[in-house]
Amino acid sequence: MKLKISKRAEKIKPSATLAVSALAREMKSAGRPVLSFSAGEPDFRSPARAIQEAADAMARGETRYTATSGIPELKAAIAGYYKGRFGLEYKPSEVIVTGGAKAALFEAISVLVDEGDEVLLPRPAWVSYVEQIELAGGTAKTADTSDTGFVPTKERMLAALSDKTVGIIINTPHNPTGAVYGESAALAVADIARERGLWVIYDEIYERLVYGGARHVNIVQAAPDIRDRVILINGVSKTFSMTGWRIGYALGPEDIIKKMDDIQSQIASNPSSISQWASVGAYAGADDETEARRAEFERRRDVLLGILGGIEGLSITRPDGAFYAFLDVRGTKIPDDMEFCRRLLEEKNVALVPGAAFLAPGFVRMSYACSEENIRVGATRIGEFIRGLA
Ligand SMILES: Cc1ncc(COP(=O)(O)O)c(C=O)c1O
Repeated sequence: MKLKISKRAEKIKPSATLAVSALAREMKSAGRPVLSFSAGEPDFRSPARAIQEAADAMARGETRYTATSGIPELKAAIAGYYKGRFGLEYKPSEVIVTGGAKAALFEAISVLVDEGDEVLLPRPAWVSYVEQIELAGGTAKTADTSDTGFVPTKERMLAALSDKTVGIIINTPHNPTGAVYGESAALAVADIARERGLWVIYDEIYERLVYGGARHVNIVQAAPDIRDRVILINGVSKTFSMTGWRIGYALGPEDIIKKMDDIQSQIASNPSSISQWASVGAYAGADDETEARRAEFERRRDVLLGILGGIEGLSITRPDGAFYAFLDVRGTKIPDDMEFCRRLLEEKNVALVPGAAFLAPGFVRMSYACSEENIRVGATRIGEFIRGLA
């Protein structure tokens, strides 16, 4: 007899991005020359200083439980980083270290969302937000940005609010579009939060990856009076190419952070002690490396745009941050994103993620966190594919 599964578990969908990556890996190991542009992770090695700190920590015997909210050294490094980068003061009791930023997000959402609550998201949206909100019993309501340069307008956000709305989740630089919200978008979010009494989860995990003249805006720095309604989310995965270490964190009001810590203490205890020490190393000695990698991503982005820019039927809004381009395929002969991705993989061995995975049918996401050679070959294959469609 089959075991009964909870309604909550039945509703949850697996990560589409990870599913495409897995399929591409499978095809590759079966001998197909697949190029995958589906993964959301940098292809660089973790910084030498992080690896050294981890090795030293293991040799010292730092292999036991730590405080659930993280080791004081890492909390101090995070607070120091926020002071230096954004001029913001956070006490250790206002910081929690988690098993990746995904865990920080879920803990924050679990603390803030009740059954029946609504949460506002700009659309396209990273779908983990939607799934996490639903796991907490809430509903995601979205504000379309597909015709406003992927940046939300105040009018659209206001129109998506109801008396059930409790908060807004903002991600900039943005996954999947690469959009970087400027000061006016941050201030519009701050105005709405202030006027409607909402909280804001501000996921700035890609904040170090901005290109050209774009500048990342931290919402608390831009609107300090809403500090106590904001939970900032960040981590080492993207900034330092440390996806496998699983270290993320949140900064926010002490009572919210304390509740997140209570949840973490019951479900995970602390994040890996060794990874926490590696992260201390990253903050202490990987700044130059981070800047060099940012510049490399910018170069790759320009190579990609140079090739894709000339393809008829494909429309691209220039991404100013993160490492994704979000391609509008509605003008091609296959405007259906799922079908587009299926046939591109089948016929040209190129894996992209359908926009439906981000509530944006008609678009596809291409990650350029891979070698320039792969970008050149992959983008050329995409061009051939679109031009060859009957
Ligand atoms: C917008 C956004 N937030 C958070 C995360 C989670 O990062 P991690 O759990 O690796 O720290 C990701 C990873 O893909 C992301 O794209």
